[in-house]
Amino acid sequence: MTTLLNVDKMSKRFGGLEAIKEMSFTVEEGEVVGLIGPNGAGKTTCFNVVSGTLPASGGAITFEGENLIGRRTCDIVQMGLARTYQATSVFPKSTVLENVVRGAFVRSQDSFLGSLLGTRASARAQAATRTHCMEILEQVGIAHVHGELADALPYGDQRRLGVAVALASNPKLIMMDEPAAGLNPEESLAMGALIRGIHDSGQASVLIVEHDMRLVMGICDRIIVLDHGELIAAGSPDEIRNNPKVIEAYLGTEVVS
Ligand SMILES: Nc1ncnc2c1ncn2[C@@H]1O[C@H](COP(=O)(O)OP(=O)(O)O)[C@@H](O)[C@H]1O
Ligand SMILES: [Mg+2]
Repeated sequence: MTTLLNVDKMSKRFGGLEAIKEMSFTVEEGEVVGLIGPNGAGKTTCFNVVSGTLPASGGAITFEGENLIGRRTCDIVQMGLARTYQATSVFPKSTVLENVVRGAFVRSQDSFLGSLLGTRASARAQAATRTHCMEILEQVGIAHVHGELADALPYGDQRRLGVAVALASNPKLIMMDEPAAGLNPEESLAMGALIRGIHDSGQASVLIVEHDMRLVMGICDRIIVLDHGELIAAGSPDEIRNNPKVIEAYLGTEVVS
């Protein structure tokens, strides 16, 4: 197995708060890994540090063996590590297709420059990008609304658009922060199928934070559990479901089902 993401003793402090304490984990090529834990455990902070949105306070992070610490977010996307956000984050006054095209340009600076210069080669590249982006919209199930403004979409479709924008950068690993948040059970099931499809088609590996335990247990090969900034367990969905430490961390919240 090839290791895509290697997080080694990563720490993150906010003033006196140790939000993440020497967290170590890997994501191998071809895996769907779940990162779960109670509210405030540090899951989003972990994503923010790995994706370069926030600086680490300590530790090492590599992607395909290359150091990520100190790199800009856009450089990290170019290396093949994309993410979706907990809140919907699209350009609201651009069309659905334009949003995805922007996602694709992050990985192809050349065609963006070319499009400014208006060369013939760039016209071809733009057409290819558009076709590629329409295929991604088909995949996530919102191609029929490609011409609508992003903020006119129903909430569930906006979440799918977030996935499409991340996919457009051709990531090797896609990190998703609560992709099913706010979705009804049916939409949540469809989101699970979409994510598993991204994996099964060999498109990308996935690291997912999600509260919907049915979704997490249903699609993950491996799950790691964060509690108060510390990793308390790692294993298969079955091992995690029956781990006393995990049950204790979640006690009273009834999320492990
Ligand atoms: N930018 C920030 N500044 C200060 N504290 C933060 C910041 N981001 C997160 N925190 C704190 O870090 C802890 C972990 O938060 P977060 O990573 O959002 O948890 P989770 O995503 O697991 O619910 C919380 O106590 C939160 O208040
Ligand atoms: Mg969070």
